[in-house]
Amino acid sequence: MELLKAIKERRSIRRFKPEPVPRELLERLVGEALWAPSAMNTQPWRFFVLTGAKKDELVAIAAKSLAQLDTRLKTLFKESMRTLVHGYFKDFGGAPAVVVTLAKEPETEGYMDGSFQSASAAFYNFLLLAHEAGLGTCWMTGPLWVEGELLEFLGHRDGWRLLALTPVGWPDQEPPVPPRKHQDIIWLE
Ligand SMILES: Cc1cc2nc3c(=O)[nH]c(=O)nc-3n(C[C@H](O)[C@H](O)[C@H](O)COP(=O)(O)O)c2cc1C
Repeated sequence: MELLKAIKERRSIRRFKPEPVPRELLERLVGEALWAPSAMNTQPWRFFVLTGAKKDELVAIAAKSLAQLDTRLKTLFKESMRTLVHGYFKDFGGAPAVVVTLAKEPETEGYMDGSFQSASAAFYNFLLLAHEAGLGTCWMTGPLWVEGELLEFLGHRDGWRLLALTPVGWPDQEPPVPPRKHQDIIWLE
């Protein structure tokens, strides 16, 4: 798929078909995503793929973040949208897999931003590659509200931070394309 097409046509998918995603496909996509640039070539990321009972356990923990998110949802969205978000967080739209990306805390103090940005580059690679393969994803940071509990569950409480996670599966919806809000470039010559 042409790169620009993938960038423009990738959408956040929040409803999935129940069919599983082959393990080999997920392994390939994660492996390819890791060809991202990274701060001082530290490659400071770790990818988890969860399916089956482990995925359900992780989703149940992530859903606890709704309690904190709800205040913000109330101010930002209409009631109908709030209900949709609540439903989605309960089972991640029925996705058969979840990918979680962690960013490594660096030895050098104050360089966590570099780790986050590097892990973001790899994570976004994964979203685009998944889209190219016909899969749906949804970048999620809402679960950061329960970051400690998620890291504990993944056995990475020390030395790692949660970047984001995404459900992965075969899309069962075609969301509308959100228009760009601004395209202003500030040219300085
Ligand atoms: C950093 C980041 C965090 C996000 N967190 C969430 C989230 O917690 N839950 C969710 O449903 N969508 C989340 N999204 C998806 C956005 O809502 C989505 O990208 C945006 O509405 C634009 O839609 P599109 O991805 O289809 O272009 C997040 C996206 C980004 C980039």
